Amino acid sequence: MAGQLLSTAPDYHSLPENYIRPEDQRPLLAEVVSDAHIPVIDLRAPDRSHVVSQIGHACRSYGFFQVVNHGVPVELMLRMLGVALEFFRLPPTEKAKLYSDDPAKKVRLSTSSNIRKETIRNWRDYLRLHCYPLEEYVPEWPCDPSSFKEVVSAYCKEVRQLGLRLLEAISLSLGLEEDCLVKALGEQGQHMAINYYPKCPQPQLTYGLPAHTDPNALTILLPDPDVAGLQVLKDGRWIAVDPLANAFVINIGDQLQALTNGKYKSVLHRAVVNPEKERISVASFLCPSNYAIISPPERLISEGSPAMYRSYTYEEYYKKFWSRNLDDEPCLEMFQS
Ligand code: OGA
Ligand code: NI
Repeated sequence: MAGQLLSTAPDYHSLPENYIRPEDQRPLLAEVVSDAHIPVIDLRAPDRSHVVSQIGHACRSYGFFQVVNHGVPVELMLRMLGVALEFFRLPPTEKAKLYSDDPAKKVRLSTSSNIRKETIRNWRDYLRLHCYPLEEYVPEWPCDPSSFKEVVSAYCKEVRQLGLRLLEAISLSLGLEEDCLVKALGEQGQHMAINYYPKCPQPQLTYGLPAHTDPNALTILLPDPDVAGLQVLKDGRWIAVDPLANAFVINIGDQLQALTNGKYKSVLHRAVVNPEKERISVASFLCPSNYAIISPPERLISEGSPAMYRSYTYEEYYKKFWSRNLDDEPCLEMFQS
């Protein structure tokens, strides 16, 4: 089955049939807005309350923002991207050992998004890893490239700290206690998807990832510094997110939309592919504990703003998410109260 990986196939000169979207589902690349930006927030700016209010504004209006001066060493970001690319360049026999399309596996190399459920493929391979607690999972990670475990563990630790700090700022921006969301999310898990989008002969007919929202709490994306591809839906139009040097792209996942009773949005986004260049991205997902009960703090529920979702455990949500196709309607809609 590892033969399904794009990164081990020869170069394609046209798109195989099973990647071609019907006409009404194609990305309409000419209509994408390229001169708008999602907010850029300097986390080391001296006025913390201003930073908090910028984060609040971004979460309400875009569901997305970029952060600079975020405290993660730039050298580590570059090493992470380097080792990611090196991984996808390994010989097919090495990669075949890690191939699986079972979403329950804690280390797996796969392709598209959920091939057991989908009918049309996406132009993407990905390595998905569970990352917290590190001691539990690192022994199962790839040993090749030889620096993989060391670089990725160091990166995971830094990104987790950044994510937890952002959750504190997000709590404050809602008028909640600083630790309110972190407490509600319980002992958070952390997953990583290292995404590899090979160059694609016909990018106008397919996606790297189709429009989706992220099922977790908070996503911290390290995008390819040289190739754009991420697009975010804003007021009915797709905005291209141009890579910004040394920045992370942060987005609100479904669990923060539910925990904030819809005040902050888990926004549709997608990845498009490129005819000339391969692209890499590293997504880190902070996930509620499986046992966390997702239910907003009372302060976010009022007569004018009644509870939007029934309460549920993250375990229940995550199972539902993977039992579906990424192209279906947003998973959170199935939990409306
Ligand atoms: C994701 C995602 C975007 C990208 O992995 O969930 O949205 O640019 N990735 O790779
Ligand atoms: Ni995503």
